[in-house]
Formats: sequence, C-alpha cells, structure tokens
Amino acid sequence: GKPLRLGIAGLGTVGASVVRIVQSNLSSLTLRAGRPVTITAVSARDRKRDRGINVDGFAWYDDPVAMVADPNVDVVIELIGGASGAAEAVVRAALAAGKPVITANKALLARHGVELARLAEAAGLSIGFEAAVAGGIPVIKTLKESLAGNTVTGIVGILNGTCNYILTRMEKEQLSFETCLAEAQRLGYAEADPTFDVGGFDTAHKLAILTSLAFGTEIDADAIYVEGITSISLEDIKAADELGYRIKLLGVARRTDSGIEARVNPAMVPKKSVVAQTSGVLNAVAFDGDALGEVVLVGPGAGGSATASSVIADIVDAARGHRTPVFGLPVNELMLYQKAEI
Ligand code: NDP
Ligand code: HSE
Repeated sequence: GKPLRLGIAGLGTVGASVVRIVQSNLSSLTLRAGRPVTITAVSARDRKRDRGINVDGFAWYDDPVAMVADPNVDVVIELIGGASGAAEAVVRAALAAGKPVITANKALLARHGVELARLAEAAGLSIGFEAAVAGGIPVIKTLKESLAGNTVTGIVGILNGTCNYILTRMEKEQLSFETCLAEAQRLGYAEADPTFDVGGFDTAHKLAILTSLAFGTEIDADAIYVEGITSISLEDIKAADELGYRIKLLGVARRTDSGIEARVNPAMVPKKSVVAQTSGVLNAVAFDGDALGEVVLVGPGAGGSATASSVIADIVDAARGHRTPVFGLPVNELMLYQKAEI
C-alpha cells in the first residue's frame, strides 16, 4: 500500500526513541500497519546535538510549523511539550492542514484538549495520545475501547513516574528528595520544568484526561485539588513504614451523585496493595466499571522507550485509518464538568 509518511516535531527523550524504534522494527511495523511506515521529516532546535540517532535521511526543519506544511508529511507527531508555544502551534497547524496528529503532550491536552478535539472531529481527523497518560501503559485504549461497555465510576492511579521514582528511592535508600529528583531528570523521566511533576500538576493533567474519557466530561484540570510531594520528608516515609504503609502520590476521581470528585495528593496506602507495590518509574491505574468490576494496569509510566511504545501504537492506528472520537464520545456530547464538594 501507499506509505504513511511521518513528521516528528521534537527529538528529545521521547522523539529520539520513536525514531530508534520505528527504524529497528520497520518490517513488523509494516505488517501491523498494513502499509509501509516511513519517517520523512523531523524538527528540533539544535541540529548539531548528538541524539544517538542518524537524522541524515530526513528533511530537517528548525521551525516545526514549517515541517507540518511539508507535502511529504502525512501524520504529524508532536513531541516538543508545553501547553502553549511551539507544541500548540504545531498541533493547530496540522489540524488546519488536514493532517492527523499524534502527541504525548498531556499539558496541552489538559488545557486545549476539548477545543482541539472539536477541530479534529470537524475535519474528520484523529488525535492519538496514548503516550500522554501513564507512559507505556495502554490506558487510553483501555478506556476508549476495552471498557466501552462499562459505566466507569472511579479512577485511582499513580500517574507520575518521576514522583514514584523519587518516593521509592527515598524509602529504599534513604536518599534526599533533591538527589532522587536529579536522578529522575538524568534518566529522562521528568518534565522540562520538574515543578509539573513534583508539584502534582502533571498528575492533574493526566487525571483530567482520564476523567474526560471515563466520565464523558469536558476536561477541567484547574478544578482538580492538587497537592504534590515537595513537603514529604524521609521522616514521613519512615513513620508511614512503621505503621505498615507507603506514601504514594495518587490521582483519584469519582463519579458521585453531586458531580465529579477529583484530587491529587500524597496518600498512605497499605503495603500489601498493588498500588503500594508499584515502585520506581512504574505507574498503576485502577478503573472501576459497573460491568467489569475493578481492573488495575501496572507498567512503566515514563522514559523514552516505554513512552515511544505508546506513540507507535498510535502510528499503527493512523496507518490503518482509525478515527475514533478523541475522547471516546463525540466532542459535542461531552458534559460540562460538574465539581462535587469534597
Ligand atoms: P525533551 O525536553 O527531552 O525533548 C523536547 C524536544 O523538543 C527536544 O528535541 C527539543 O529540541 C524540541 N523542541 C523544543 N522546543 C522546540 C521548538 N520551539 N521547535 C522545535 N523543537 C523544539 O522532552 P521529552 O521527550 O521528555 O517530552 C516530550 C513530550 O512527551 C512532552 O510533552 C512530555 O510531557 C511528553 N512525555 C514525556 C515522557 C518522558 O518520560 N520523558 C513520558 C510521557 C510523555 P532540542 O533537542 O534541539 O533541544
Ligand atoms: N514526567 C512524566 C512522569 C513523564 O514522570 O510521569 C510521563 O508522562
């Protein structure tokens, strides 16, 4: 069949991993996608930076919006990050040009997701964002597809790999918060501005996206109560340990009679629970569905290759022409988010 030609904007931790995996799995990807998949264009700021990948065969763009206009790009993959600026410009330009979008950018979706979904659906285009929540864990497909027969009533999750990595290493090795955060940054888990991770805002962005998919509500990350992990000390972790608990940063959302209750905060969880045993960069996401009961997904929540694995799932969907509504329901059917008193 006709090749699917990819343009990748952003070649950092995630973007470089996507290039690496696409290049090393070309033949199986072609079979799964039903047609050849090829990278034709890329964009980043610094052309000279060593990324451990060879970009010689691709058209290079300093300006990612110019890449979108390249006639040899069919699908635009946004891996720059940030709720505005270049990332937003790239996604808007792609939709305006009639090109499907794939993104890992939860900050952008939490702020502009409903509006972007409206633009995409009006144009008959898809926005794939499996990588935006819980890194490599297939949570978006699970909610949109596998749980379609359920009324979801609750979501509980460890949704930030950086925070879970920090809390785990503080507990296991009695290291300081600062040392663990620096290590998470070195490993490529943290956001460009790690305040989003440790302040709980990244978890709130992801929880807002999951809430929309699960409950059919418009995203409102600002309506979520947010407390991060910056005030958690080694003493707190030790005290919880002595009582049989671990401290985890949780995102929790529930459908209640009076509206949606959604919050992000550090919580003590019993050591024998799945959530407590989710350590390091792993995330855990539990959904409660009326037909299914509880399902818990555990896996790598951040890092280049795990996140790229989700981006590639979206590439295969795009190659096959899948065009499900962005948030599962047609965007015009989403209800206004109604906040419950907590
Ligand atoms: P990085 O900071 O590692 O990479 C960002 C890339 O974007 C860099 O290649 C940078 O170029 C490029 N870039 C920045 N500004 C511009 C611009 N104005 N024009 C063109 N290119 C630009 O980020 P990550 O790879 O970690 O994250 C990318 C996205 O994926 C973010 O939305 C993040 O939230 C999300 N994400 C990240 C995960 C992770 O584990 N890291 C997991 C899940 C999602 P240059 O290299 O030249 O500086
Ligand atoms: N900074 C994020 C995290 C990346 O640590 O979970 C994955 O979304």
